[in-house]
Amino acid sequence: TNYDEMVTQETVDIYENEPKRKLEYHKTLAQQPFESETISEELSSYVVKNEALYVRNHAPVPRIDLEDHSINFSSQIDDKMSNLSIEDLTQGFKTQCIYSVLQCAGNRASHDQASNGVNGFTGTSGENIGVGMMGNIKWSGVSAADVLQSIYPRECLEELLQEEELYHVNFVGADEYETSTPLSYILDPLNDCLFAMKMNDVALTPDHGYPIRVLLPGVAGARCVKWLESVSISKKPSKSPWNRHYYLRKDGSHIQQLPLQSILLSGNRTELGVSVEGVAYSGGSSAYIEKVVVSVDGGVTWLPSELRRDEIQNDDSHGFHGWVRFVGFIPLAEKLAGDMDIEVICRAIDSDGTTQPEVSLQQH
Ligand code: MTE
Repeated sequence: TNYDEMVTQETVDIYENEPKRKLEYHKTLAQQPFESETISEELSSYVVKNEALYVRNHAPVPRIDLEDHSINFSSQIDDKMSNLSIEDLTQGFKTQCIYSVLQCAGNRASHDQASNGVNGFTGTSGENIGVGMMGNIKWSGVSAADVLQSIYPRECLEELLQEEELYHVNFVGADEYETSTPLSYILDPLNDCLFAMKMNDVALTPDHGYPIRVLLPGVAGARCVKWLESVSISKKPSKSPWNRHYYLRKDGSHIQQLPLQSILLSGNRTELGVSVEGVAYSGGSSAYIEKVVVSVDGGVTWLPSELRRDEIQNDDSHGFHGWVRFVGFIPLAEKLAGDMDIEVICRAIDSDGTTQPEVSLQQH
């Protein structure tokens, strides 16, 4: 009995400090660690509400005191080391504000599985992921390229002078989640990478990385480390389990840039035809969405949709990282106007001329 008491006393609920969540905005995929999709209704606006943005945690949410927090910058090449507080960052570097989609590498895993068969999510709680692991947010913070250039000037210069990738930047969160991204991506001004401290003009919420997170527009959400605690530079990608075993393509390479994407969020059928709405996002190309076309005959004929470019806000970005909403109307021929089910499909084309493929590309 003594032993039993001891065990009871020492059992700690590591999830007892989880933040309060507005669960009505989420389709919960897993409770502990919390994992959710944003419900489709909440994706139908240019910017998603902070409390509605999908959450993907790998551990309990760390609670961080802003005053005590600093970020450790080190190098795996030499013994360079420095610490910067949030104040050092905000005082020392220009604040930037950009609209960017954050999207999990697993978004639409169920669609991928339906078209390509078994994927990395098959048999896990992620296999039913629909379209909601994505959202467009107004992020503010300091330019990650500026910060890295001031801390690692030699490596950044070398990287800028070389054709091939030389360095990787490793990011570690206070929950010990760690991953890396090539330095070349972060240094490219078109990518507008941030150390973000605000979402939609207020401090990051605990679930989304308070007080500071990495935000790499166009790159898989998995690389956008929350509760950022340390940064290091190295010649090899991070060896953390998250980086070595997860968020990989079938050939074992790391998923970084995301592909062109368009998603139908809702549809309404009347006697005259079908009206639909959705969002399109150019992923890691920094291009803008040129058009989104819709079809009710499986892609034999396509009709253009109307892009809601009027909603797009000015920001400090050099490339396009936000989504654009589209609305489409497809008049129905009489023979289609009966009771039969109608399947609507959409396809985005970006300003580089890239067209979304018919099914997600199978990576070999
Ligand atoms: N950063 C830390 N420190 N811990 C995490 O579990 N999850 C990653 C990434 N950054 C994660 C993290 C994954 S897989 C995704 S998709 C995004 O954060 C999700 O960000 P969000 O929860 O703010 O939507």
